[in-house]
Amino acid sequence: MKATYRRAVLIGLLMSLACPLVMADRQEDVTVFHWWVSDGEHASIEVIQRYIEARGIHWRDRAIAGSGTARFGDVLKAAVEAGEPPMASQVIGYDIHYWASRGELVNLDDIAREQEWDEVVPYGIQSLSKYDGHWYAAPINTHSTNWLWFNGNLFRRLGGVAPDTWEDLLSMLEEARKMDIVPLAIGQEAWEHTLLFEAVAAGAGGAEFYRKAFLELDPTALDEELLLTIFRRMSQLREYLDEDFSGRTWNEATQLVLSGDALLQVQGSWVDGEFSYHGYIPGQDYACFRFPDTQGMFLFNSDQYMLFKDGPGNDETRREFVHTLMSIDLQRDVNISSGAAPARVDVPRDDFNLCGRQAISNMRSTNMRRTLMGSIAMGNANPPEVKTSIYRVISDHLYGRIDDEEAVYRLRETIMKHSAGS
Ligand code: GAL
Repeated sequence: MKATYRRAVLIGLLMSLACPLVMADRQEDVTVFHWWVSDGEHASIEVIQRYIEARGIHWRDRAIAGSGTARFGDVLKAAVEAGEPPMASQVIGYDIHYWASRGELVNLDDIAREQEWDEVVPYGIQSLSKYDGHWYAAPINTHSTNWLWFNGNLFRRLGGVAPDTWEDLLSMLEEARKMDIVPLAIGQEAWEHTLLFEAVAAGAGGAEFYRKAFLELDPTALDEELLLTIFRRMSQLREYLDEDFSGRTWNEATQLVLSGDALLQVQGSWVDGEFSYHGYIPGQDYACFRFPDTQGMFLFNSDQYMLFKDGPGNDETRREFVHTLMSIDLQRDVNISSGAAPARVDVPRDDFNLCGRQAISNMRSTNMRRTLMGSIAMGNANPPEVKTSIYRVISDHLYGRIDDEEAVYRLRETIMKHSAGS
């Protein structure tokens, strides 16, 4: 895996060396804000940096932890208000519309036309990258959240069969408890709890329900019995968490799976990036499966980059930066490292690992069937204010502050409050 990855990076660098014009030193500093701070993420941002520097652009970055984007967003807003926006920033989901609606972003239509983004980026992602019909963000990947990540040894000790149904999953968690390991590893943040919730909800209710209830906020989809089933399942899962979950980050939870102290984690494909960084091999050291009953769905979270009109960088540098992010080579190499599928559907699968190849196949087929749907947890389903009110209900419930019935009531209220008809 690592050798393949190094080879891919080397090929990328050689290709840029073969183009002397592109190598001309522009003496231009590119300031980039992002939140890729875990081991795997750090390796991935280095891939982007190498590609950008190979085009003669000086890279400076500022890393601010904040995968749920609220904390990161505050730092970015402060920089913009202080009149010091970066040239570019990582961004996900509806946060793009927030910035675009304020008139802060560079319109990317010309580059999009030239590189035919309309043709190669899944429609679900385009609807977030575009605002008012114009491209304002360049998507570099398509992560998905509805995954189970198993420790390989423990998985084999439990029989080595992927859990196909909810009952299968529960019985594996129960077996793990008897083995005296943490059955289900999770971290402290509301976005992580919501990520678990969305897999449970999509599995229990199916794609149509997920789309209507959470993407369209359609009150007629909010069947009380179904919502109760979903929260009951969340309560069942709560029994398999350890007491210390409220004190750790998502990647510390991944470490528990890596070390064999926990059986599995329900997390986005960035976990694959962590495993790969540490030299672990899928199908051997770890295993990835879709969350039961979500096998035909891809709950996506696409990392994108937006450029600020008032940020540093001349037009040529901006163009080169975006063009590079959207190239097939960069999208291959950065996502072999990140664990995501590329944002482009036409990047060859060959150099990706087992989980990466599955992610790419799933992304392509669900895109065709329109079951590639935005992740609630990662803000790809709703605007920030809706996302955070959903976070509050789910986290309160997971921490046991409210019971299943109260959670159903509050979730319905939240969705109805924000539905188009209200
Ligand atoms: C998301 C981001 C992913 C991954 C994850 C965990 O917000 O889009 O790429 O980094 O956070 O940090």
